[in-house]
Amino acid sequence: MFDRLREQPADKILSLMSAFRADTRADKIDLGVGVYKDATGNTPVMRAVREAERRLVDAQTTKAYTGLAGDPAFADAMIALVLADAVPRAQVAAVATPGGTGALRQAFELVRMANPAAKIWASDPTWPNHLSIIRYLGIEMESYRYFDEATRGLDLDGMLADLARVSAGDVVLLHGCCHNPTGVNPTADDWTQIIALLLERGAVPMVDLAYQGFGDGLEEDAAATRAIAAAFPECLIAASCSKNFGIYRERTGILMAVMQDAARRDVVQGNLAYLNRQNYSIPPDHGARIVTTILTDPELRAEWEAELEEIRNSMLALRAQLADELKRLTNSDRFAFVSEHRGMFSRLGASPEQVAALREGHGIYMVGDSRINIAGLNQDTVPVLARAIVGEGV
Ligand code: LMR
Repeated sequence: MFDRLREQPADKILSLMSAFRADTRADKIDLGVGVYKDATGNTPVMRAVREAERRLVDAQTTKAYTGLAGDPAFADAMIALVLADAVPRAQVAAVATPGGTGALRQAFELVRMANPAAKIWASDPTWPNHLSIIRYLGIEMESYRYFDEATRGLDLDGMLADLARVSAGDVVLLHGCCHNPTGVNPTADDWTQIIALLLERGAVPMVDLAYQGFGDGLEEDAAATRAIAAAFPECLIAASCSKNFGIYRERTGILMAVMQDAARRDVVQGNLAYLNRQNYSIPPDHGARIVTTILTDPELRAEWEAELEEIRNSMLALRAQLADELKRLTNSDRFAFVSEHRGMFSRLGASPEQVAALREGHGIYMVGDSRINIAGLNQDTVPVLARAIVGEGV
């Protein structure tokens, strides 16, 4: 049987991690995988997370199974964090999942189960694993324009023109904030237009919310998701706790199905639980319990929000420094977009050859589409990157 297996293509983001580790140059710079790093290159355990874990160790009396949906208190806490009062709790079905990727996978499977005729529309570009999972599940896909190569901003006209072709019941995958890989995000006015068009087309939005708190703030980053949840008869939201709680390896996420008709909720909830049972049964609990402990304790929550703000502001400061440095070196505003993008990533617009030259000649690792992880920089490496970008003629 095993002789029938073909080699699978390496994941472009994760294989960069091993290439970086294997590079022996002392001054190498890792701008690859989307993991927050502080100025020393460390991905810290957040203060509130450490304290929540301590409390859990002391207080937890059992490791017996939770339910198929995970701990209900986690769902309540996350729904409140993501949706606030955008929709009544009774209109939301939710299950805990292994990370945001687990939530996306379950969401795609739910789409396939509920409406096999639905296409999924994804932005061009999008997180490559979106496409990989959609393809793996055999779901038909289309892409919509998103990134304007010339301005490195949003191609709103292209996006709206493409989304005008969506059929009723199709699912449109949207990044709630901090678009991965570009860093480009619709403004509030843009969102109003996108939502109006998708409502008119009868689309079902699926929001990937992996970076709440990394862009403009916890509330600001949830604004588009909340507007979508309030406006549409149905939508899906896949939220990740990996980045904003820094608990990447704990695999903590949640899938929410939001509906205006609360009478459908129990059936939808049952289907989400069924999907969990088929794929991995009970979802992981440790990370979910950390998150619940933090979100429901005012002191821990304040500590977490403060540290998240420190992280967010440090990335904004690095963006500003890089944009300034590039402005000085090029004597132009060509790279002003770096300070306008939000979240961990910016797409520089370098060619694959330039990306390879930056890696081989300068030890600077970024994803092949020229996505950089801003958090991989520090005050000392920003000028190094800026010189290399200009030196390679990006
Ligand atoms: C990324 O885009 O780098 C992160 O979401 C990590 C991953 O799993 O790809």
